[in-house]
Amino acid sequence: MNRSIHHIVLMLIATWLVIPTAQSEALSGAQLYDIACEACHSLGSAPDHRVGPPLGNLLDRKAAAIEGYRYSEALLASEWVWTLPTLLAWLSEPDTAIPDNAMNYVNALTAQESQRLAEWLLQQP
Ligand code: HEC
Repeated sequence: MNRSIHHIVLMLIATWLVIPTAQSEALSGAQLYDIACEACHSLGSAPDHRVGPPLGNLLDRKAAAIEGYRYSEALLASEWVWTLPTLLAWLSEPDTAIPDNAMNYVNALTAQESQRLAEWLLQQP
């Protein structure tokens, strides 16, 4: 085997070993939030209004309850309360959960990731 082919074979083996390991490593709720929600939603003690409303203290909060944020008519009329089941239903398909809402979001998370993210988010102040 000449040297460069040898090199390519070693690289292929290395890639084959590395990729599945990286994919199987689970992202935490916080990491998933940063990837999937943080661009549009703030958290914490000094929340700002981004494209979406702040999401701190979400557990048992009525939907569309943040003062000064312009919600869609659909979310205002929904009478939803945010708990683990409602949050998971919302995230899995917002347009089915509350038609005509204004959250432009396509779920790219697995069921386990959504669960991990939702459990983490509902504990955030
Ligand atoms: C592209 C921007 C965008 C992304 C990304 C996004 N959202 Fe939203 N979200 C919105 C908007 C806009 C609304 C307001 C919807 C309305 O008024 O109908 C909203 C509303 C919500 C609400 C209702 C809040 C309330 O006060 O009732 C929850 C809960 C929520 N989003 C969770 C999430 C989570 C969790 C993620 C990440 C998995 C996420 N969103 C990703 C834009 C986004």
